[in-house]
Amino acid sequence: MQDLWQLQEEALSRFASLDSAHALEEAKARYLGKSGAITERLKALGAMPPEARKQAGALINQAKSAIEGALEQRRTELARIQQERELAATALDVTLPGRTSGQGGLHPVTRTLERIESIFHGMGFTVAEGPEIESDAYNFSALNIPSDHPARAMHDTFYLAPGYVLRTHTSPVQVRYLETHALPVRIIAPGRVFRCDSDVTHTPMFHQVEGLWVAEEGLSLAVLKGLLSEFMRRFFERDELATRFRPSFFPFTEPSAEMDIGCVICGGAGCRVCSHTGWLEVLGCGMVQPKVLAPLGIDTERYTGLAFGLGVERLAMIRHGVDDLRTFYENDLRFLHRFA
Ligand code: FA5
Ligand code: MG
Repeated sequence: MQDLWQLQEEALSRFASLDSAHALEEAKARYLGKSGAITERLKALGAMPPEARKQAGALINQAKSAIEGALEQRRTELARIQQERELAATALDVTLPGRTSGQGGLHPVTRTLERIESIFHGMGFTVAEGPEIESDAYNFSALNIPSDHPARAMHDTFYLAPGYVLRTHTSPVQVRYLETHALPVRIIAPGRVFRCDSDVTHTPMFHQVEGLWVAEEGLSLAVLKGLLSEFMRRFFERDELATRFRPSFFPFTEPSAEMDIGCVICGGAGCRVCSHTGWLEVLGCGMVQPKVLAPLGIDTERYTGLAFGLGVERLAMIRHGVDDLRTFYENDLRFLHRFA
């Protein structure tokens, strides 16, 4: 019965080598199926003499049950392997860190606005607001801006419905506030303003902080200059900051000036950011024109006003050494993250 032993060995090693349930069932047929090798041998027993049949039958059945046992064992193993594969494929690693939405932060211009507001708050100013869609009357006429002033031109201003503009500055809040509040007043008016402008120091939408202080006595150009110089020292946290006041013209102030800060990009040597002047303009200011106050019923013999309008992005740009003001509005997270 040498070949029976070989047959059993062959079946056992074949089963062990198969790794699909389907192939295993096919292999089973080879030995235990209707015309399988074991089945054929059992069939052949009938032709044997009784003594030999008994002996051979016992051996064949032994081999048969060894093969059946091996088959069952491999079936169980393959089922386990299959289950493990399925588990691995649908595995959920509960130790992986979760997907978060990331930490947000305030925009650098918002932070600058908050900083400006808090410094002026410390200097006794309260905050007022006005509309971004403004009437031509408040944006220009009430501020003594004549009809031939360049700011009124289509190429400088966003006109809306007839008589309305996207405000070009925060100065109309001066008039709105004086119309509705008793003197003295000491306010700042921060907000968005709009102009047809775009280059390294100009964007079409930007922010200004208007300042207005009207009182019965004590206000002068010297006070205005001292106030703004002190503000800049606090804002930039530097005593030796290079600043200058330049005579200028605004129809709603008299006299008028603009304040410049030494260019931080080139250190004053001259570059494209400061148009090779060594200076960056940050605000316009002056003593409020009596022609603005008188129509509001204010006695201009008794009351004096000082006013200023500063550019928020310009201050942010200088403080952080940003060499193109437009970068603030490009929404590049790599840039914005530097301020978070
Ligand atoms: C004015 O808008 C006056 N209303 C300021 C004023 C108020 C004068 C009260 C007197 C009394 P000006 O056009 O210069 O002035 O603008 C003020 C500041 O806004 C500028 O100094 C600059 O810092 C900033 N600025 C002006 N245009 C832009 C722009 N397109 N983008 C960014 N900042 C700007
Ligand atoms: Mg100016």
